[in-house]
Amino acid sequence: MPETTPYPLPSDEWSPQSWRNRDAAQQPDWPDAADYDATLKELSGYPPLVFAGESRALTNALGGVADGRAFLLQAGDCAESFEAFSADSIRERLKVILQMAVVLTYSVGVPTVKVGRIAGQFAKPRSSNTETVDGVELPSFRGHLVNDIDFSAAARLPVPGRMLRAYNQSAATLNLVRAFTTGGFADLSRVHQWNQQFVATSPEGRRYEQLANEIDRALRFMEACGLDHETVPALHQADVWTSHEALVLGYEEALTRRDSLTGDWYDCSAHTVWIGERTRQLDGAHMEFFRGIRNPVGCKIGPTASADEVLELCEALNPGRVPGRLTLITRMGADAITDGLRPLLRAVTDAGHPVVWACDPMHGNTFTAPSGRKTRHFDAILAEIAGFFEAHRAEGTWPGGVHVELTGDDVTECLGGAEDLLDDDLGLRYETMCDPRLNGRQSLDLAFRVAELLRAS
Ligand code: PEP
Ligand code: CO
Repeated sequence: MPETTPYPLPSDEWSPQSWRNRDAAQQPDWPDAADYDATLKELSGYPPLVFAGESRALTNALGGVADGRAFLLQAGDCAESFEAFSADSIRERLKVILQMAVVLTYSVGVPTVKVGRIAGQFAKPRSSNTETVDGVELPSFRGHLVNDIDFSAAARLPVPGRMLRAYNQSAATLNLVRAFTTGGFADLSRVHQWNQQFVATSPEGRRYEQLANEIDRALRFMEACGLDHETVPALHQADVWTSHEALVLGYEEALTRRDSLTGDWYDCSAHTVWIGERTRQLDGAHMEFFRGIRNPVGCKIGPTASADEVLELCEALNPGRVPGRLTLITRMGADAITDGLRPLLRAVTDAGHPVVWACDPMHGNTFTAPSGRKTRHFDAILAEIAGFFEAHRAEGTWPGGVHVELTGDDVTECLGGAEDLLDDDLGLRYETMCDPRLNGRQSLDLAFRVAELLRAS
């Protein structure tokens, strides 16, 4: 069956550069234009990080989510770091994603589509262009793709060469993710090994061990029935797709390539990319860039988005109404979600747009604790997810997935959770470069809670 095209009509000209004719929010002020152009030229000659066929496969998988036959888990760092770059850190993030996915799949009985905020999540939008400390004003930190986090004029200067380093780190990260997920690490018979030491001794960890034991029993049962699970690749490998916010458009343009098979354009910096809350202007450069790439794409939806705006956005990004092409990631805050989401669900459903609805329970629930640290409370995160489920139940739509910021490590960045982290604890291991992330225990706990909510809905 021929695929319908999500592209605008041919008369509506698009090219990987056409975003340059629009206003682009949140772009770095590159100080050296010649260096910037030369860097993009170099990058545009580099191999793609992903292949068009993979992005098409992800669109299909997300189509299953749009239809209510699968669940989306999109998770990873707020901002990846050039410094915290090691096999260990990649493996720990993978472990927690695999753990959460297995909890969801086993408890709910539908496949979990696993997408990492990984291998490219290096650029950050900021609410202010500058930061002032003790009367000194400097450009804001915009992620390691652009500048450095240290508070000095030299560190905050945007350096185009960072884009090459981001590309290389993405390539190395993706390589390891592929090796882990296809080379045996994601084998269901190793489900126990994804439980980390510091998690295993906790109540969530023990609950996970029980579930892992049940999976072991199920595998043995299959064997006893004569099913040779060794020959079923799905039990031994996992697809973990990559994603990031496509913020710095020069970088994304340089990695956008025409697929030789179909002639379509794909942003080959990741399997899927999303537009952030601060760059989703309908007439803006990001919308222009995104409408022409054929990857599955996401768009954040904050509390101020009207139903009309969301419908226009669906038309712009998915005029062909291809299931799986568009994921709307709502992030309204725990108090606003149920009432804020319901009219959007109704409008999008009535208009016949087959979107994936994902809940980002992180970005609408950030506040500064008395200690001065930016944090989120586990209860508010859970409350936003519960409100998201409630809205879907009321409207008869499928709560497609969750989009969370986490790390596999034992950090202390979000308050609450089963270990009940308090403001005083935040200083123990507060390591994020940007937003506070759930730690390994909180993430696993969240997966169990989400599974319970899903089963009840
Ligand atoms: C993010 O996902 O890290 C982010 C900045 O989100 P938002 O655009 O929703 O604020
Ligand atoms: Co964030």
